[in-house]
Amino acid sequence: MKAQLVEKFRATYGRAPEICAYAPGRIEFIGNHTDYNGGTVLGAALDRGVWVALAGRADARRQWASDQRSTRVTSRAEDGAKRTGAESWVNYPLGVLAALPEFGVAAPAGFDFLAMSNLPSGAGLSSSAAIELASALAFLEMAGARLARETVVKIGRHAENHFVGVPCGILDQGVSGFGQKNKLVWIDCRGPIFAMVPLPAAAHFWIFNTHTKHALVDGLYAARHRECMTAAEALGVGLLVETNGAALTAAEANLAPESARRARHVVEEIARVAAARTALEGDDLVAVGRLLTASHRSSQLYFENSTAELDFLVDALVAAPQVFGARLTGGGFGGAVMALTSAAFGEIEAHAVAAAYREKFGATPEILHAQTGDGAALI
Ligand code: GLA
Repeated sequence: MKAQLVEKFRATYGRAPEICAYAPGRIEFIGNHTDYNGGTVLGAALDRGVWVALAGRADARRQWASDQRSTRVTSRAEDGAKRTGAESWVNYPLGVLAALPEFGVAAPAGFDFLAMSNLPSGAGLSSSAAIELASALAFLEMAGARLARETVVKIGRHAENHFVGVPCGILDQGVSGFGQKNKLVWIDCRGPIFAMVPLPAAAHFWIFNTHTKHALVDGLYAARHRECMTAAEALGVGLLVETNGAALTAAEANLAPESARRARHVVEEIARVAAARTALEGDDLVAVGRLLTASHRSSQLYFENSTAELDFLVDALVAAPQVFGARLTGGGFGGAVMALTSAAFGEIEAHAVAAAYREKFGATPEILHAQTGDGAALI
């Protein structure tokens, strides 16, 4: 991909890039909406992501091109305002630039920028975190700043929280930054603390991207964030990670039903992440799969961030004997379902699921036999 990136940069700007960087998309393995509640989460970096190429300019002009868009965006260093409509993809690298001074780094002034991606879009596989991390590495290199990986991850999240305006946790950027092939990234989001958990060799991932996205998805994400904070407050804790199932049961009668449901999902999901880690370390994929499916059922019942399309896919997948478990991956309200399968699940089985989905919804989900990959790096 680097050769294509350099070639495309030359074709776009008539010169070679000076810096190239890559960051992967991710699968949320388990730990749904646990990150901003201070909980734990397990994710895997994919072998797909976003590439960024950059070359400095003598003036303060900034040019932005992407292989996903036909038109180039131009801005100036002194104008860091948020973009809208077809230009809004630029907000991810712009958000990184706006974050840099907070981390003691002066943002580079003028440059030519190119992004390329091979991640399915709108699938909940974190193309936004991937472009944030690849941009952060490239801009930091241009500024001559060497920061710890953890800081690069925090810069990406800062861009998302403060510039893009999504109150996300550390999952997407953490996994994109720390991912390793054949490993899951475990994050204790309060530290944050990062650890690697080997992926059993028999584990396979299949992703079914519905290409559906709730029109209000960002607003719904922010609403869930708020609801969790309201529930924590009602329970007398700062974050939901500080309570547990027994305390929640004892307090449940005094909680608004919605708060009780949101808290139940988060508290039990945090327990499922711990159980999944133990089961992974014991190579027990059957137990892991059960936890994944239980996570989805909890999304359906308590967190209410699933959709009819995602539920249908999970039901169809778990009915197949080669599937250990399946769940929505990412924020929810559309996007993709991830299945953990044995090697016996193949194209035939995947297409049977897709055919049943087409029959019901009149649209074909995109199928991806996903491979894990390494985290963000200069290339
Ligand atoms: C999105 C957010 C993450 C996380 C997940 C849900 O991917 O960006 O921070 O909250 O949703 O687990």
